[in-house]
Amino acid sequence: MEIKVVTGSITEIKADAVVVGFFEGTGCLDGDIAALDKALGGAVSELISQGEIKGRLNEVTVIHSLGKLAAARAVVTGLGKPAELSRDRLCGAVAETCRRLRKMGAASIATVAQGAGVNDISPAASAQAIAEGALLGLYRFRRHMTGEADYGEIKEFTLVAADENERQKLESGCRRGRVLAEATNLARDMANEPANYMTPAIMAEKAKELAADCGLKCQVLEPAEMRKLGMGALLGVAQGSREPPRLIVLRYRGSGSAGVDLALVGKGITFDSGGISIKPSEKMSEMKGDMAGGAAVLAAMRAISRFQPKINVVALVPATENLPSGSALKPGDVITALGGKTIEVVNTDAEGRLVLADALGYALKLGAKSIIDIATLTGACHIALGDFYSGAFGNRKELMDGVLKAAAEAGEPTWQLPMHEQYKELNKSDVADIKNSGGRYGGAITAAQFLAEFVGDTPWVHLDIAGTFLSDKERGCLVKGATGVPVRTLVNLVLSLAEG
Ligand code: BES
Ligand code: MN
Ligand code: ZN
Repeated sequence: MEIKVVTGSITEIKADAVVVGFFEGTGCLDGDIAALDKALGGAVSELISQGEIKGRLNEVTVIHSLGKLAAARAVVTGLGKPAELSRDRLCGAVAETCRRLRKMGAASIATVAQGAGVNDISPAASAQAIAEGALLGLYRFRRHMTGEADYGEIKEFTLVAADENERQKLESGCRRGRVLAEATNLARDMANEPANYMTPAIMAEKAKELAADCGLKCQVLEPAEMRKLGMGALLGVAQGSREPPRLIVLRYRGSGSAGVDLALVGKGITFDSGGISIKPSEKMSEMKGDMAGGAAVLAAMRAISRFQPKINVVALVPATENLPSGSALKPGDVITALGGKTIEVVNTDAEGRLVLADALGYALKLGAKSIIDIATLTGACHIALGDFYSGAFGNRKELMDGVLKAAAEAGEPTWQLPMHEQYKELNKSDVADIKNSGGRYGGAITAAQFLAEFVGDTPWVHLDIAGTFLSDKERGCLVKGATGVPVRTLVNLVLSLAEG
């Protein structure tokens, strides 16, 4: 879909639908909606007085213009109470509206900077939220469908500014929104891909293509190099599968100085059957998305390369399948991670923390000054927070605050959960330095506590997206399937770290 920003008037713009926002409890109409109402001979105010348009959040009312406007339809989107408007609510309302119009067969939509001026939302922030809403809300994954969709695509989306000054502000917000949303959709594409189309080798190829496209450096480690480096944990998980593992390394260099300011480490289990500690078959197919953390860091790198912040970022994705076979890890096996720590594998389904242990060790080896890891790590996190909030764990307040702020700005709800040395007890092994499961209680915390053992004293935040990587329904910007969380958080964080 193309997004254009033009100067003009909403009553004169040609499109299948022109969209304006309307707040709950608004008395008399002004601005764009008043202009539409006038052109439509009072149809909008009539519907408001009849109570059909209430302005409730995500309410969509379609009015056919019958020649009274240049556009075929005028659409009023409810934005809820003005005091409660946020960029995220705006983004969601635009997404809902776009999906409704697509179902009606609209191919072109025009709108204005809805919500600008309300609750500190700047014109640029409004344009950003609108662009994100349109691109994220209209996302579909149809790669493996051979037939036509029931309804077509919205091909053109136009933001209308009153003058050149406003146009420039909307243009810059729109660009930011487009880059963030396209990166999020790229992460969705990768995570939605069935595991037979997204093996570790294919994921590494995708990273190489992305790097070539964005001017990033890409290096892919294969098993021989992993063996040399002593990555016994990643190799251990991979040994049950016929697909060889990959460690994907993407580098963005934006700062003049050498060194790695930030490592983004994403879990890349392209299919998690649980291994010998096999999962129940119900919903096992969802585990094709167990590389969503890896997809998010790769996609975030694309957005980062577009914004060119002054910071050096490395993305690391340990990619492998987790399958049972005659060569698979067995419960009770002991493996050695990069750096020499031994791990008793009491449960082969706790594989994410194993592959991350080696990737985190590699981040330390590269001299990363800070580390963020992202993983669909524990069902326990899903149980604790549901499917709305991702869980955050860390060892430095400053970095944690930065992540939480970036997440709030992105509209990707993230909640800090505690860490405490008391939980370390639960990961103690009788035969090795540590074991890979601390049991059911506090499962998200003991998993984080396990990872903490592999980052030394480096500032680090771990995001557990097991509850948020998938959506079971359409909800605002989210559609059914992979959500692309937390791509926008990561990009916001990198931009704010670069600004120092
Ligand atoms: N990938 C799963 C976690 C998961 C479950 C993510 C459901 C998304 C949705 C992870 O590898 C796993 O299996 N974790 C185990 C850990 C346990 C064996 C200690 C879990 O959460 O049950
Ligand atoms: Mn698992
Ligand atoms: Zn897993």
